[in-house]
Amino acid sequence: MADNDNRTEGDRFWPSEPPRSEPYALKGSSGLDWGMQSRLARVFRPSTSRTVMLAIDHGYFQGPTTGLERVDLSIVPLLGYADALMTTRGMVRSTIPPASGTPIVLRASGGPSILRELSDEQIAVSMEDAARINAAAVAVQVFIGGQFETQSVRNMTALVDQSQRYGIPVLAVTAVGKELTRDARYLRLATRICAELGAHVVKTYYCAEDFDTVAAACPVPLVMAGGKKLPELEALTMAYRAMEEGAAGVDMGRNIFQSDDPVAMIRAVSAVVHDSLKPLAAYDQFLRRAALSTQPADQRHAD
Ligand code: 5RP
Repeated sequence: MADNDNRTEGDRFWPSEPPRSEPYALKGSSGLDWGMQSRLARVFRPSTSRTVMLAIDHGYFQGPTTGLERVDLSIVPLLGYADALMTTRGMVRSTIPPASGTPIVLRASGGPSILRELSDEQIAVSMEDAARINAAAVAVQVFIGGQFETQSVRNMTALVDQSQRYGIPVLAVTAVGKELTRDARYLRLATRICAELGAHVVKTYYCAEDFDTVAAACPVPLVMAGGKKLPELEALTMAYRAMEEGAAGVDMGRNIFQSDDPVAMIRAVSAVVHDSLKPLAAYDQFLRRAALSTQPADQRHAD
C-alpha cells in the first residue's frame, strides 16, 4: 500500500513544455488505433520500420513442403532471427514455443488444396481465435483476376471489418495464378485494391521493372514475397532491390528454409533489410557463416 505519511506534492509539471506525443511513423498507419499500431510495431522493427517475416504457412494448401517436414527441427531454430513468423494456428499450437516471443502473423484464409481451384478460399480463422493466440496480424489471400476474385476480396473485407473491433491488423497476400503475369501493371492493380479496401499491410511479388511504382501506389507498407527457391545471391539481390525501391520488408519462405544454411540465409536477408547491406556483401556474409556452421564446434571462431 502506498505510504501516506511522507506524501508531498509533485513539482515536475513543466507547464511551459508542450506535451510530447510521437506519431507512429509506419507508412499509412499514423491514424490507426493504438492497439493496431502496437501490433504493427511488433512486426515492423521500430528502429527501421522494416520487417523480415518468415513465411512457413505453405502447408495450409500444399501439405508438408520441402524444408517444412519438421517445423520443430527446421524452423524453431530460426525464430530468434525473424521479426515475425507467418504461420497457421495448427502449427502455432502444436509446435511454436510461446516463449519464443516471435510475433505471429496468422494465416486466416484457406479451404482448397493444390488438387483444387486455389482461389476458392474462405475465412478459416475467427478474429476471436486470432486474439486468443495473441496474433500480431492475420493474413488473407486475395486473388485479383482469379476465378473466385470477389469471394477472396470479400474474405479480406470481412476480416478488415472484424480487425477494427479487435485491433488486429490484416495483411493481404496478393496471390498470382499461373495464368496471370507478375508485371508492375498487374501488381499495382492487385496491391492497390487490397489497400483501398482496408488491408493494413500488403504482400506482393517483386517485378524487375517498375516495382518502385507498385510500392509508391500502395499507401500502406508493402512486403515482398520470396517465391520459388533461387540461388542465394539472386534472392538477396531481389530483396535488396525491393527494399531500395520502396518495400517495407520481406515475407520470405522457401528462399530461407530451403537454403543449404537457413540460419545464415535469414541473417543475410536481415542485414539487407535492416542495414541496407549490398547483395554481394550479404552473400559473402552468408558464405562465411555457412562455412563456419559446417565446421566442428571447437574449430569455430566467435561470430
Ligand atoms: C502462400 C503465401 C506464402 O506465405 C508465401 O508465398 C510463401 O513464401 P515463399 O513464396 O517465399 O516460399 O502467401 O501463398
